[in-house]
Amino acid sequence: MVTVKTAEEIALMREPCRIVKETLEYVGKHISAGMTTAEVDKLVYKYITSCGAVPSELGYCGYPASSCVSVNEVVVHGIPGDRIIEDGDIVSVDITAEKNGFQGDACRTFLIGNVSEEKRKLVKVTEECFFKAIDGLKEGTPLYDIGYAVQSHAEANGYGVVRALTGHGIGREMHEDPSVPNYGRKGTGMRLKAGMTICIEPMINMGTWRVVFDKRDGWTVRTADGLPAAHYENTVLITGDGVEILTL
Ligand code: MF3
Ligand code: CO
Ligand code: CO
Repeated sequence: MVTVKTAEEIALMREPCRIVKETLEYVGKHISAGMTTAEVDKLVYKYITSCGAVPSELGYCGYPASSCVSVNEVVVHGIPGDRIIEDGDIVSVDITAEKNGFQGDACRTFLIGNVSEEKRKLVKVTEECFFKAIDGLKEGTPLYDIGYAVQSHAEANGYGVVRALTGHGIGREMHEDPSVPNYGRKGTGMRLKAGMTICIEPMINMGTWRVVFDKRDGWTVRTADGLPAAHYENTVLITGDGVEILTL
């Protein structure tokens, strides 16, 4: 069920979204080569809880951590552990916080030290995909225009668009309807309504769009060809004349 938020609900939702944004800024200041992904997760847990919010990924469908820390070929849902972050890595940190009964969700891909031109471009284009997707977006826009914009920009750069995972509505639940794919045909899908809050989250691979789910841990999603992937996400409010990015 697609939910349209009231002005009161949107006011409540601003806080978890702001906390998510600040947490990612905090992580950006501290993440560095030599740290483990578990240490990154500790930063996330510490910051979110210090704001009086709940790191809502922890325990979500049995997920064991407060963040998803996905290095290089890991597309999403990298479980924090003893993997050491190295110079030249790209590391996406995807977090969700709950406060006031509402969720905020965002992801950034961080560049660690001396990152190759190739990988920098991947991260830059992935962010651009998000901004192309919100360009002109407002009440009445067909939902799949989002995916069309992401896919066009990614594929024009020779990249693969992940199909197996999508963006989503968000509110009292981390994942609400509708599903927001990063591919699609322009002019199709439901019309967006003012008051809808959705997560737009391009997951872009340097090579093939195909991904492999880790059967052992049940979470980690990797590129099928082992080439790097990037991820960028914000929680966005649809308004009558545009969008408001709640996590930026
Ligand atoms: N934050 C992720 C998203 O963008 C969800 C993470 S799944 C979890 O939808 F299990 F880690 F919580
Ligand atoms: Co997320
Ligand atoms: Co999300």
